[in-house]
Amino acid sequence: MSAKDESFGSSYLSSFDETDNIKITKPHVLRFALIMIFVCGMIFSDITEIPTAPKFAVENASLSQFNYTKTNHTLSYKLALNITITNPKKYIGLEYNDIQVIAYYGKTRFAFVTLVNETASFYQNPNTTVSFENVSVQGQKLVLFAESDFNKYSLGTAAGVYSVDLLFAFKETFVSGNAICNLKLPLGFNGTAAPGFQTTKCWETLLLILSL
Ligand SMILES: *[C@@H]1O[C@H](CO)[C@@H](O)[C@H](O)[C@H]1NC(C)=O
Ligand SMILES: *[C@@H]1O[C@H](CO)[C@@H](O)[C@H](O)[C@H]1NC(C)=O
Ligand SMILES: *[C@@H]1O[C@H](CO)[C@@H](O)[C@H](O)[C@H]1NC(C)=O
Ligand SMILES: *[C@@H]1O[C@H](CO)[C@@H](O)[C@H](O)[C@H]1NC(C)=O
Ligand SMILES: *[C@@H]1O[C@H](CO)[C@@H](O)[C@H](O)[C@H]1NC(C)=O
Ligand SMILES: *[C@@H]1O[C@H](CO)[C@@H](O)[C@H](O)[C@H]1NC(C)=O
Ligand SMILES: *[C@@H]1O[C@H](CO)[C@@H](O)[C@H](O)[C@H]1NC(C)=O
Ligand SMILES: *[C@@H]1O[C@H](CO)[C@@H](O)[C@H](O)[C@H]1NC(C)=O
Repeated sequence: MSAKDESFGSSYLSSFDETDNIKITKPHVLRFALIMIFVCGMIFSDITEIPTAPKFAVENASLSQFNYTKTNHTLSYKLALNITITNPKKYIGLEYNDIQVIAYYGKTRFAFVTLVNETASFYQNPNTTVSFENVSVQGQKLVLFAESDFNKYSLGTAAGVYSVDLLFAFKETFVSGNAICNLKLPLGFNGTAAPGFQTTKCWETLLLILSL
């Protein structure tokens, strides 16, 4: 629950302590019930009014390299992403201070890219979608694949499709949270993209209200 919900609860409790001293008679019970309904209604409307989290999606992606060398534990990767962020609220804009994209293969984190930082924060109008095109995630990383991840990698190599998870970690003025996208990336060859990527919607987790 958010900090605001807790403060609702505690302010309610303190007022309850005061009425506790009064001898409770039937009208008081009725008033108590009405206050209870009112408080629950306030909390409910407050929850529904929480600035809805932005919706992330990976519209298109092309993986043109994903080589893991077991002998020197090196993963070489080259991934390009088209990302969209939708502000579903009709009247509330979103001001982003930080958006990071973190890439995982199984349990192994292998890359991260900053989409938005504090010096380049941006404002998204209500009811709009912004896109980030050709976001490049590439490099070489020393990683130690766990046995399960290495088996997964071998299967992926055989199938020509790798399952990569992206974690978007975002901070907005009022809300921060994560979105996770489970991508199925067909491997292109020789630096070219392979067709067959399906637009992937991300699911939101860990929504945290900073202040209201
Ligand atoms: C994704 O990009 C590839 C190559 O850039 C293109 O052939 C394909 O049509 C695109 N897919 C979508 C859904 O836009
Ligand atoms: C991203 O979108 C642009 C414009 O639609 C397209 O030309 C480009 O190939 C896409 N990139 C990827 C990685 O799909
Ligand atoms: C990646 O693997 C492919 C096929 O196994 C190979 O042809 C290619 O040269 C490798 N690339 C690098 C940079 O090691
Ligand atoms: C690891 O080995 C591969 C293939 O032999 C090579 O392409 C890559 O540069 C090596 N990486 C490091 C960090 O030595
Ligand atoms: C939101 O956007 C859609 C499509 O662009 C438009 O039809 C709708 O009227 C907009 N709603 C508001 C409240 O601006
Ligand atoms: C923040 O982002 C801007 C634009 O993308 C970039 O020029 C700048 O170097 C970044 N600053 C930091 C501290 O990463
Ligand atoms: C993304 O790449 C495509 C071709 O690969 C290009 O046509 C398009 O202009 C690029 N978009 C941006 C925003 O750089
Ligand atoms: C790979 O791409 C390079 C340049 O992009 C080209 O010169 C080469 O012929 C290609 N190799 C294959 C096997 O398609």
